[in-house]
Amino acid sequence: MANSKYEYVKDFEQPDVLLPSTWIVVRIDGKGFHKFSDHYQFTKPNDRRALDLMNAAAVEVMKELPDLCIAYGVSDEFSFVFHPNCQLFERRSAKLVTTIVSTFTGYYIHKWSEYFPSTPLQPPYLPSFDGRAVIYPSNGILRDYMSWRQVDCHINNLYNTTFWMMVLKGGMSNTDAEQELKIFDEGHPTYFTQGTVSGDKNEILFKRFGINYNNEEDIYKKGSVLYRQFELQEPESAQEGEVDNSAVPEGKQSRSQQERLRKLRRKAQVVVDHVDIIKNDFWERRPWILSGKPGKLPA
Ligand code: GTP
Ligand code: MG
Repeated sequence: MANSKYEYVKDFEQPDVLLPSTWIVVRIDGKGFHKFSDHYQFTKPNDRRALDLMNAAAVEVMKELPDLCIAYGVSDEFSFVFHPNCQLFERRSAKLVTTIVSTFTGYYIHKWSEYFPSTPLQPPYLPSFDGRAVIYPSNGILRDYMSWRQVDCHINNLYNTTFWMMVLKGGMSNTDAEQELKIFDEGHPTYFTQGTVSGDKNEILFKRFGINYNNEEDIYKKGSVLYRQFELQEPESAQEGEVDNSAVPEGKQSRSQQERLRKLRRKAQVVVDHVDIIKNDFWERRPWILSGKPGKLPA
């Protein structure tokens, strides 16, 4: 670009390169989805079409960005994870976030009619998503981040399932149901969030509505995990609850090495799973997610 007297304006741009050798999580979240879901009459508490559409858009994001190792989605949010070795956009935060947000939104709109054929999108009710990038310095903390989102999914889903049963099947008003679920609020430690302990809600579901929460669909209870499928491995010595805290940094990979890995990742199928990602088993069977080294393609 030719020099001009105006070029000094570039000096106002703030650097936003994320720390090297750290996991990068870009979490996006639907803006105003409370209203959005009401307008398009999403089923309460869970709309399968809406979740499938979120997953379908996220699969396309994973396909377009082979640097992504794993993604996790629940409700109107999705977390996309880049490996510590990732050098995409020189690890510039805004570039990573805006690319993911716009690619995801583009596909969400593009695929909307596939999942909601009889309710076309109409302004002003158009979907939009915010996004942020957070870095995590170890495998252990990255896994804790993923566990945090999945625990949140469980807590919210149990609450929402019970709440909407009480309202839709039990004929209670929203306020009454909310009050009843709040009864045990005081004096409970914070992990019994939203008032009642899990057991109380399980009991309400079972005794009043004959629902065994364990039999609810996994997509609602566990959320959605997206990753590239390579050959599963036998877990070596599965030690319950133990977290792999091994240091991550492997130094910078050369550009040609990165390109080779990208090609291998592109060949793998992106799968959508609804499984536990808190215990070791998931990670031990799929070592390529944390190592960043593609495994063998399934036969
Ligand atoms: P901001 O993210 O702050 O803009 O607000 P929000 O309205 O999007 O709320 P938030 O992200 O905290 O929560 C997502 C909201 O989306 C939920 O509270 C629900 O109202 C709605 N939602 C998400 N998934 C479903 C679904 O499957 N069915 C129904 N009925 N609603 C859903
Ligand atoms: Mg939202």
